[in-house]
Amino acid sequence: MKKPDFDLVVFGATSFVGQILAGYLNDQFGVARNLRWAAAGRSKQKLEALRKSLGPGAASLSLIEADAGDAASLEALCARTRVVISTVGPYALYGEPMVKACADSGTDYCDLTGEVQWIRRMIRRYEEAARKSGARLVHCCGFDSIPSDMGVFFLQREAMRRFGQPCTRVKMRVRAMRGGFSGGTAASLVNVIKEAAADPALRKELANPYSLCPPGYRSAARQPNVKSPEHDPDFDAWIAPFVMGAINTRIVQRSNALLEQAYGKDFVYDEAVLVGRGTKGRLSAAGMTAALAAFMIAGALPPARWALERFVLPAPGEGPSPEAQRKGFFDIRFVGRTAKGQSLRAKVTGDRDPGYGSTAKMLGQAGACLAQDVAKDDKPGGFWTPSTIFGERLIERLQADAGLTFEILGD
Ligand SMILES: NC(=O)c1ccc[n+]([C@@H]2O[C@H](COP(=O)([O-])OP(=O)(O)OC[C@H]3O[C@@H](n4cnc5c(N)ncnc54)[C@H](OP(=O)(O)O)[C@@H]3O)[C@@H](O)[C@H]2O)c1
Repeated sequence: MKKPDFDLVVFGATSFVGQILAGYLNDQFGVARNLRWAAAGRSKQKLEALRKSLGPGAASLSLIEADAGDAASLEALCARTRVVISTVGPYALYGEPMVKACADSGTDYCDLTGEVQWIRRMIRRYEEAARKSGARLVHCCGFDSIPSDMGVFFLQREAMRRFGQPCTRVKMRVRAMRGGFSGGTAASLVNVIKEAAADPALRKELANPYSLCPPGYRSAARQPNVKSPEHDPDFDAWIAPFVMGAINTRIVQRSNALLEQAYGKDFVYDEAVLVGRGTKGRLSAAGMTAALAAFMIAGALPPARWALERFVLPAPGEGPSPEAQRKGFFDIRFVGRTAKGQSLRAKVTGDRDPGYGSTAKMLGQAGACLAQDVAKDDKPGGFWTPSTIFGERLIERLQADAGLTFEILGD
């Protein structure tokens, strides 16, 4: 078989996050030092401007024109690479043709979607094709859901080492984070709320904590869902709902399902934001909960949604400034408990703002890991989660080159 021209192609390289990713890949790997990569998108002009912005060292970066609306262009792109990273979103609107092209052609794929309903649809439609062709597809390779999914994997590995058994109850709590939204993320979020508002069956599907687990998957465990301010005794602090919990919890449950319930058949997992102690903490948690509810309601009502999109949220292509990206960070904590009551705590941190500066590095390393570390014999075609396909190797990469830390804190 002819060797493909590239190890990796970034489809959507001119998106807000795609441009940051291109800069990161260029810094890490040059254009072809030890990873041959290319930038793809629908606009030749924008691609050329991107290449110029990367400086003279990137003058030989290959550019590929491809449009999500033109299946032949996607097939031609897939024929030239081993891995595709896609940042073309909202994925529920523009993402499916590339998933199909990869699943059909055996090309490995990863992306940044956090759209549960779309992921479920892709698994149902293309799992069989991917198994046949050998394509490995990995959604959610950004802030949602790498820190959560890899953090739980990391905690469980240590629990097995120390206690010989997994933590059947794990909580993830966001201790601190600073970052912003891009137009693409805002558009994806608003699109999910809009679809859910119009479709009761979808609302039911989104409420199911096991919605991304393989068909027929069963667990008797009732999953908690932090919807209102609560006091969390494990952290002696008030907690509020975490907006990304809706996707992260589904990915972590899918990991447990794909690992044949290695975290326990009654594994219970939830996520929330740590707000603070005492009355001040309680009031802040109530304020955060109300703000999130107001956003959901505004997104569901057409006139309010219009005003939100027009006046409040960033437009497609916009996002946090380079300074805001540099100053951003995240710090998330895990506490786990085994069935016997032994407990373990872990911490995952990242430099740069979670959704962009840090996400671009996580996504770049996920793509490189797919291209360089994970043999097809070892991990066959199909839809994977980050922890089930990348495991330990991604933690090493993230700590070495993407500004993340993974640390066990004790019990
Ligand atoms: N999981 C996470 O942590 C995380 C973090 C950040 C972003 N995201 C997700 O990543 C996605 C990108 O975000 P963003 O802010 O970078 O979005 P954005 O700037 O709005 O970019 C969207 C991209 O899609 C491209 N596109 C649209 N229609 C296309 C078509 N028919 N063919 C080819 N390309 C097409 C656009 O091309 P042009 O450049 O030519 O306009 C643009 O590059 C969003 O879905 C967002 O939700 C997730």
